Amino acid sequence: MNYSEALGLLREHGQEHVLRYYGELDEGERKALLAQIASINFSELDVASHGGRGALGELSPVPALTCGQVDERRAEFEEAGIAAIRAGKVGAVLLAGGQGTRLGSEGPKGAFDIGVTRPLSVFGCQFANIAEVTARAGAYFHVFVMTSLLNCAQTEEFFKENGFFGYPEDKIHFFVQDMAPACDVDGKILLESKGKICMSPNGNGGWYSSLVRSAAGEVIPREGIEWLNVYSVDNVLQRICDPVFIGATLKDGCNCSAKVVKKVAPDEKVGVLCMENGSPAIVEYYEMPPEIASLRRPDGELLFAYGVILNYLFKVEKLNFTLEKKLPVHLSFKKIPHIENGVFVTPEQPNGYKLEYLVLDMIKLMGNCLAVEVVREREFAPVKNRTGVDSVESARALLEKNGVKL
Ligand code: UTP
Repeated sequence: MNYSEALGLLREHGQEHVLRYYGELDEGERKALLAQIASINFSELDVASHGGRGALGELSPVPALTCGQVDERRAEFEEAGIAAIRAGKVGAVLLAGGQGTRLGSEGPKGAFDIGVTRPLSVFGCQFANIAEVTARAGAYFHVFVMTSLLNCAQTEEFFKENGFFGYPEDKIHFFVQDMAPACDVDGKILLESKGKICMSPNGNGGWYSSLVRSAAGEVIPREGIEWLNVYSVDNVLQRICDPVFIGATLKDGCNCSAKVVKKVAPDEKVGVLCMENGSPAIVEYYEMPPEIASLRRPDGELLFAYGVILNYLFKVEKLNFTLEKKLPVHLSFKKIPHIENGVFVTPEQPNGYKLEYLVLDMIKLMGNCLAVEVVREREFAPVKNRTGVDSVESARALLEKNGVKL
């Protein structure tokens, strides 16, 4: 793409300011900027100027398999789950492409040391949980690790340095997700420097399309993997390929399932699993109107009671069908360092949007979804912030409660 083609394209989308400093750039920087412009998906940005997800449909509560109901059938579910793992039908997908800006640590979130008297990384906690399952099943499952261009090298290096956490190296496969431009509140692209657009990982929703496009994606049909357990990196109590969860899903005959916990407060920062216009859907916390989030049943329980913990099981056959579907773009309001009037500024407050696809939108495309309630104190210790709610402190306390030596 040459200068005038780039200018034409930018003008079409009201983004010509991206070339404001072109005259000050050297030849290499100019080429790089033109290539970056050519790689941008402008339709995503058009969404940003129109305000993101769009109107919510009619919401109603979702029925869930409660902890009590799971307990009654635990042995039956567990047996089915173990059999599926032994037969190689289940794989795991670790979503580790995020930037962890709220945690504010250098490097991948999974490499964060949550130990107190010994080094204990977030990845380490999760692989310790995996080891319990593989010991019970007497079999290993494939683990696909999604990283981003910003952390892929560091993540792979960390796995190597830590001996792949005792897991067979040939069962761990890395793949890299896509990036998207960041913009200000008016949908205008932000610049990281005079010759570079601010880019960030495009959310966790692109995991399946990125996976199937990568070399790692070939493993799925080759090994006959039928189910993928997708989970976030930032929950140190995350139970991965939990046989009971897998068994409950298989017995139900649904296309996907989600682990849920009872929300502790109407404004808790978790996506809410509910029905939207009659189909299962998850509404992100920042898109849920407070007056709906705080509705209560006559017994005092929240009407929209179930929050997701980013632990889903998807049927691969149905995922292939989602590849042709478009996911909505969400706007995540963040602090984005950028160039303003020729000067680099690091904002104190959120100043713009990152454009994100979210895995939670895939639930709707799957047609049906089984909600499986889990015991919060045993399975949900998010590490989002340095201190306070969902922080290193609160996650440490929960790890100790679960008998993990820090
Ligand atoms: P979060 O939504 O908490 O985002 O990710 P984040 O980028 O890690 O953290 P903040 O918001 O900057 O503080 C939830 C899960 O989705 C993954 C994260 O790694 C985490 O497991 N994720 C998020 C991706 O894999 N890619 C992304 O682009 C964003």
